[in-house]
Amino acid sequence: MKKLTLALFAGLILVFACQRTPSDRKIDLTVPWRFHSGDDPAWTGATFDDSKWELINPTDIWEHQGYKNLDGFAWYRMRVVIPHILIDDAYIKDSIQFKLGKIDDYDQVFLNGELIGENGKNILPKIQPRPDFFKGPSQWDTERRYTLAANDPRVHWDQENIIAVRAYDRGGAGGMFSKPFEISMVDLPDHIKFDFGQSGFKFVGDTLISRQFAVYNISQKEEFKGTLTIHANRCDNGSLLFKQETVLNMPPGIRTVFTVNIIKDLAVPATVYFSYREKSSGKEVKERLEMPYILTPKPGKTPRINGALVFGIRPWSPLLYKIAATGEPPLTYSAEGLPEGLHLHADDGLITGMLSKKGEYTVKLKVTNSVGTAGRNLTIKCGDLISLTPPLGWNSWNVWGLTVSDKKVRQAGDAFVSSGLISHGWTYINIDDGWEDTHDKNGNIIPNFKFPNMKEMCNYIHSLGLKVGIYSSPGPRTCGGYEGSYSFEEKDAQHYADWGIDYLKYDWCSYGGIAPNPNDHQLKFPYREMRRYIRKVNRDIHYSLCQYGMGDVWKWGNEVDGNSWRTTGDIEDSWESLSGIGFSQDKCSPFSAPGRWNDPDMLVVGWVGWGPKLHYTRLTPNEQYTHMSLWSLLAAPLLIGCDLTQLDDFTLNLLTNDEVLAINQDPSGKQARQAWKTDECQIWIRDLEDGSKAIGLFNLTEYPLPVNVKLNDLGLKGKWMMRDVWPQKDLGLVETHFEMNVLPHGVRLLVLRKP
Ligand code: GLA
Repeated sequence: MKKLTLALFAGLILVFACQRTPSDRKIDLTVPWRFHSGDDPAWTGATFDDSKWELINPTDIWEHQGYKNLDGFAWYRMRVVIPHILIDDAYIKDSIQFKLGKIDDYDQVFLNGELIGENGKNILPKIQPRPDFFKGPSQWDTERRYTLAANDPRVHWDQENIIAVRAYDRGGAGGMFSKPFEISMVDLPDHIKFDFGQSGFKFVGDTLISRQFAVYNISQKEEFKGTLTIHANRCDNGSLLFKQETVLNMPPGIRTVFTVNIIKDLAVPATVYFSYREKSSGKEVKERLEMPYILTPKPGKTPRINGALVFGIRPWSPLLYKIAATGEPPLTYSAEGLPEGLHLHADDGLITGMLSKKGEYTVKLKVTNSVGTAGRNLTIKCGDLISLTPPLGWNSWNVWGLTVSDKKVRQAGDAFVSSGLISHGWTYINIDDGWEDTHDKNGNIIPNFKFPNMKEMCNYIHSLGLKVGIYSSPGPRTCGGYEGSYSFEEKDAQHYADWGIDYLKYDWCSYGGIAPNPNDHQLKFPYREMRRYIRKVNRDIHYSLCQYGMGDVWKWGNEVDGNSWRTTGDIEDSWESLSGIGFSQDKCSPFSAPGRWNDPDMLVVGWVGWGPKLHYTRLTPNEQYTHMSLWSLLAAPLLIGCDLTQLDDFTLNLLTNDEVLAINQDPSGKQARQAWKTDECQIWIRDLEDGSKAIGLFNLTEYPLPVNVKLNDLGLKGKWMMRDVWPQKDLGLVETHFEMNVLPHGVRLLVLRKP
């Protein structure tokens, strides 16, 4: 009883210190809507009787609600009274807004039978839109916000209004999803915005964290006068770390930049709260920002060998293996038991050469410096399978999008070395879409002007001890509209090998035009085809299938000899995207094995942006810990998708925890299973090679959560030694159960070993 009270008390303090702020007056539309597939202009109508339509939750795609194979048109309708009190309460009384989450892919929105907004193509041409509606940029992941003047006759104040949404889904996920769904006046919070996207946190010395942010008034006509207050609290005991108040007048369109400098213990989670209180109305706009906290201990001076314990190679393929090790330089490397054909470069730890015979070789690696020596075995398996542990690397897409270039790729390679990522096992530097020009008249693929000499660039990356990846599509065009490999597969594979490519991401894209409704055979065909040719070349090329999980690719990816396969659509730097993807991977778990990896898409940490304009990831530090922990438990390929020339201390720290990476690289190749699930929390558990268990306790809520773990529920019997993986600390023996606090959207990553 005493323990419970204490836990609750701690929970309350944490809630006080870290909870999200309440919002202004609004009408909540996250109620069941009426839903019907198909398309009929009569469904716009105010008088249409939709009472026989099915009910649907607007915050989730229709595939999750019984319409698994629905593509094309469907309608949503709902009735709502819009009370005049919205205007009475508002400080600015001009305009009303309808926020309708997100809609996949296009939509037209009708209020009382008349069009008020559209995102995407004008898909119902018979209806002539009035000139004053919001027209969006046609993206499925854009928040829908349609605004009307408060005196617009389409709005029926204090009466029932009919909102009808005509959605069109091009394929894949469809319909309304996300949040918010609400009606409100366009008020202070819609005009005053905090912008954190232009700067990341900077660490100065060992205790100071600094961050730039901007407050701006996006209104073109309203002026606001008020006070800006910033304060920061620790999340563990709520204590105040910082407080500052500034009088701030904001003329229309004005943007003011501030810097907050907060002194804190780097390992302590804390939250900064921002508020702008408008003087005459007393209305307040609030934001909060979680501060990064550093958990990974700094690498010591004594040598330590990191990276995979097992490495796969095929006979007659050139081998490049860098012994990943930390410790005070200079380090010298030795390897006992290297099979004939392989050589070690003692000063940089590179093993190169070629093997002619299949077999398994145990090599004793040793790394020495002035302080000491580290030793570890590496198993080299020469056989048919490569990528015996998930690839660790960088990919250009999430950062540079189609603006990738030779220079940016070389910079990423250089940064792997200068930041020390290479010393933790990070290996691949992968070019995504945007490098291709055309096939010449002889069918040779020609890179575009941004890649003047592909072979030279690959040589350069190899000279750093790293590997190179490339991207193409089985269709005539890539997703970015560049040249694909369709009908040039054999020649392309040969070019990749000649250039020295080690990894191919092969992305379905326009192959959808060739096989619009692919059956099983058609889904596999283009992947088999390219596989034939990359297996013909004398090079080990990791084969990464990218087709967003179609046809449950995890069930047959190995049959087409894929080394990894994307199980989902594209990831974004939002909690919705991250948690939606990460926590839905249980179904793929049984199919993960050495050389056969489920790929839930790349990491969205650091400076991302899909190029050329970048922003600091919108994921909170806790969400980023969740990202790395979950992806490691899932045995996922880890491909960093950020600008490595701007790698901040927090991101580097997140990517260089050798115990976390060891879970990802565990030779068993087994993927974690979801072992426990409530609305608030999930527990995932992964069997490791040595019999121990890696466990992730995930908090899905926006408040700190005490999680009570019963070992029985996880199928674990007896006594276990528990290790807290991020801070690399032993927590002692556990038996039957234990309890731990987990921060909002955060994780506790544990390893349980038999004593
Ligand atoms: C698709 C893939 C992305 C990226 C782009 C490139 O969307 O899923 O990962 O490769 O294409 O155009």
